[in-house]
Amino acid sequence: MRVAALVLAAGRGERLGASVPKAFLPLAGRPLVVRAIEALAARPEVERIVPVLPAADLVRFAALARDFAGADKLAEPVAGGAERQDSMRAGLAALPEGIDLVAVHDAARPLVRPDDVGRVIAAAARTGAALLAVPVRDTLKRVRDGRVADTLPRAECWAAQTPQVFRLALLREALAKAEAEGFLGTDDAQLVERLGAPVEVVEGDPANLKITWPEDVALAEAIWSSRAQGAWPSGSSRAQSAWPSGSSSRAQGARPSGSSGEQR
Ligand code: C5P
Repeated sequence: MRVAALVLAAGRGERLGASVPKAFLPLAGRPLVVRAIEALAARPEVERIVPVLPAADLVRFAALARDFAGADKLAEPVAGGAERQDSMRAGLAALPEGIDLVAVHDAARPLVRPDDVGRVIAAAARTGAALLAVPVRDTLKRVRDGRVADTLPRAECWAAQTPQVFRLALLREALAKAEAEGFLGTDDAQLVERLGAPVEVVEGDPANLKITWPEDVALAEAIWSSRAQGAWPSGSSRAQSAWPSGSSSRAQGARPSGSSGEQR
């Protein structure tokens, strides 16, 4: 199976309020987008990585030193669009011929562990579609007009992360349907779900956070430095993660069953 990845870095990052575009904010001395690329490139099965950047930052990206791991797997960067889904479409259009599986990853998640990337790729190779996710810690409320409209059953609630990995033909079909119907998703799996296709859930790492708010930058730095000077933990169990929580059996199980909910 030939696997490629998209690294979506075309968001404006307005919630961060930084002077530098979000993708270029440093994490342990390298831009977030480079850290995300390194994590994907560490997987031998990922043969090509297409970075998607704001049109105004393509030159800035091209000027980055190419001395990072995985630079040899980089395709020409492409310009993203107004919405994340537009950026994903632009990235898909730039994939080389003959790719079977595509991993779509947010540049804003530079802390993903290569081991988890490998697990979600393996799941998608089996099933056609898979994502990384973690069980939520909080009880989720649906809120309308400042009032609780509904409480979601926590044992069934998982927070979706990236990478999300799909058979390329399936994702293209899902994107075409969404566009024909004017549907805009907040993640890619949502588009595939709308086809009625199953999407497998692979339990990831809570430390694979999406850098969104200013305080997330300091948190990401702390997680990074706690990972033995930048060395990635080799295992997939949460016990080996820099973010100790939960039972390791659930971390290894990757089975999104509601039965363990009460233990959280
Ligand atoms: O918007 P959100 O925070 O969910 O963005 C997740 C990822 O999608 C980020 O890495 C961001 O750079 C990317 N994105 C993009 N193009 C957009 C909006 C977001 O590539 N128009």
